[in-house]
Amino acid sequence: MALFHRALNPPLADWSGRRAWIVGASSGIGRATASALHGLGAQVIVSARDGAALRDFVHGHPGSLALPLDVTNAQAVRDAAVAARRIAAGPLDLVLYCAGHYRPLRATDFELAEAQRHLDVNYGGVLHLLDAVLPMLLAAGHGHLSLVGSVAGYRGLPMSLAYGPTKAALHNLAENLYLDLHAHGLGVSIINPGFVQTPLTAQNSFKMPALITADEAARHMLRGWAKGRFEMNFPRRFTRWLRLLRCLPDAWYFSAVRRATGA
Ligand SMILES: NC(=O)c1ccc[n+]([C@@H]2O[C@H](COP(=O)([O-])OP(=O)(O)OC[C@H]3O[C@@H](n4cnc5c(N)ncnc54)[C@H](OP(=O)(O)O)[C@@H]3O)[C@@H](O)[C@H]2O)c1
Repeated sequence: MALFHRALNPPLADWSGRRAWIVGASSGIGRATASALHGLGAQVIVSARDGAALRDFVHGHPGSLALPLDVTNAQAVRDAAVAARRIAAGPLDLVLYCAGHYRPLRATDFELAEAQRHLDVNYGGVLHLLDAVLPMLLAAGHGHLSLVGSVAGYRGLPMSLAYGPTKAALHNLAENLYLDLHAHGLGVSIINPGFVQTPLTAQNSFKMPALITADEAARHMLRGWAKGRFEMNFPRRFTRWLRLLRCLPDAWYFSAVRRATGA
């Protein structure tokens, strides 16, 4: 049992004086997490496209800094990483990728541009971030890279044709990063939330089970970092069932999803 509860990463519990860069921090989970980290004494750098929302965050969180960027622009991400490193008074302790794009999509109404947009923001943006921060994290031999995936990446789900595969890719990417970076002293984690009340899920017309607030999601993440978790999934009352479904044979899985969602 001890094997399952072993900290896989250097635990991050005391945030006082730590430096965190959060990409995708203008709203929702990213903003709530940036706010929680600031409240615990971290120096927070916030990025996203919406400069006004970032400035608003900085105004309400003295000492934090805004670096607006579009994650689909590799050079913009590189420039922001250099600026983040310069602004921070030391090496970055946490780099959190929380940017995300979601539109419900089914194979019966396939839209190439929409599918590619998901790939560009949810996966391509992470590659841009890796290109920008890996050299500096490896040189420092210090820091933690966290990617926000989703339980939608566990297995196929209705309306998740464009979104789900990008999140599945992030989980695989995080496992690869862990294997490569752990020996260099770097932490890596993948965060798989269930339903969180944010602008991203506001477009869902169905009743979202076990819906939590962005502040609750931030608290789950803080607990996960403190315990040195590799994967964080929450709320457990919802995600434990999805983790179980992940192990089902295909025929049972498809039948269970059809029954649960009516798809
Ligand atoms: N809410 C949920 O139930 C849920 C569940 C599982 C996983 N997630 C994941 O959690 C993460 C945060 O989502 P959220 O629910 O908090 O939604 P959200 O409030 O819409 O946040 C999405 C963030 O991504 C940023 N973003 C989107 N496109 C960007 C781009 N091209 N360049 C830079 N930043 C960009 C947005 O900022 P700008 O628009 O200002 O650029 C915003 O800050 C996403 O990865 C999402 O997939 C959410």
